[in-house]
Amino acid sequence: MARVNNWQIGRDMSYWYAEERPRKQFAAVFDINKCIACQTCTIACKTTWTSGRGQEYMLWNNVESKPFGFYPIAWDVNALDLLGAGDWKGNTYQGRTLFEAAREGERVLGCPPAADDYANPNLGEDDALDTGALINKGLELLVPQAVWFFYLARICNHCTYPACLAACPRGAIYKRPEDGIVLADQKKCRGYRECVKACPYKKVFFNADANVSQKCIGCYPLVEQKEQPRCFKNCIGKIRNQGFLSRPQDAREDNPIDYLVHIRKLALPLLPQLGLEPNVYYVPPINAPKTFLKQMFGPGVEQAVETYKGAAQDPKIVALLSLFGCTPKTIHRFKVIGGDVAGYDEKGDEIVRVPVKEPAFVRAPMNGDVPRLNVT
Ligand code: SF4
Ligand code: SF4
Ligand code: F3S
Repeated sequence: MARVNNWQIGRDMSYWYAEERPRKQFAAVFDINKCIACQTCTIACKTTWTSGRGQEYMLWNNVESKPFGFYPIAWDVNALDLLGAGDWKGNTYQGRTLFEAAREGERVLGCPPAADDYANPNLGEDDALDTGALINKGLELLVPQAVWFFYLARICNHCTYPACLAACPRGAIYKRPEDGIVLADQKKCRGYRECVKACPYKKVFFNADANVSQKCIGCYPLVEQKEQPRCFKNCIGKIRNQGFLSRPQDAREDNPIDYLVHIRKLALPLLPQLGLEPNVYYVPPINAPKTFLKQMFGPGVEQAVETYKGAAQDPKIVALLSLFGCTPKTIHRFKVIGGDVAGYDEKGDEIVRVPVKEPAFVRAPMNGDVPRLNVT
């Protein structure tokens, strides 16, 4: 085992291979507060990459309702059960990661899913905690604050320290040095399924027809053309932005992902305590209990929620979030210019410009003698 640095847990940790970061790291920010669980992302991916034999059950992208939704069943509960409650001191994780807790003779502490665990991809959809606790107040039915759920959109995290890669005895899984995308080599794979067992996010899927494992490819053919993946381009809620993340010490103010992750610390990794340094970052939902969110996104949750609640007074955050979903191209830099925000490609050429505040047009309530139902 090598010693590597994992900035998400605030310390060094053990990993099967030496630290070797890619030249650029594929990364993404999802603003959970805007997700409407329309599943357009899920279908965009499904129809593009997993419509073949043996792939019927595969959802490289899925959207589940928390706290009761999972795909496969209980993937996060199982992962947390393996390590126990997350023990943080400030921003430093005190417990063991999945690599450090591996059993004798294994590389990762894993948990193999059963076939049935994939049987109900949308189980728990829209189930809120405390359902039935509606308050009957005279003629009004009120939903008390305690009732909550939120939608969690998930893809492979293209982790800095992938458990799938560490666990494969064939060396069939690799991380591309040019962009950090994690791929499973279909020719090398022999179907050992150690990767499926090891990935705590359960984002490697076994194809029983082809006897190989398959996973989200980060839409690398699009990324190579400087475009965002299919599930990003098709997102109706405009909750997603794909780009590249620097290490904390190299963070740039004008890089959209760096700004949200490192500088404003508004977007947080999913289950950082597991030790994989995942590269999909979430703006946490503001309506869920902090204890639940802290377990899911780590100790930065309270600050992130407060920052998001105050975002209306923060022109740069509002501007940057307005750029999400406004261009199929990958934005490397951004700049606020007057009332607009512009995005730039790797060479510094402008690729998109949108108003930070969308103009509203108020129409007269009457069209001659005919009343208009919608006056905006
Ligand atoms: Fe591998 Fe899972 Fe990380 Fe994706 S999320 S890179 S499949 S360990
Ligand atoms: Fe599917 Fe591409 Fe999204 Fe991965 S990045 S889940 S391959 S659409
Ligand atoms: Fe390796 Fe997973 Fe294939 S463990 S051999 S990539 S099924």
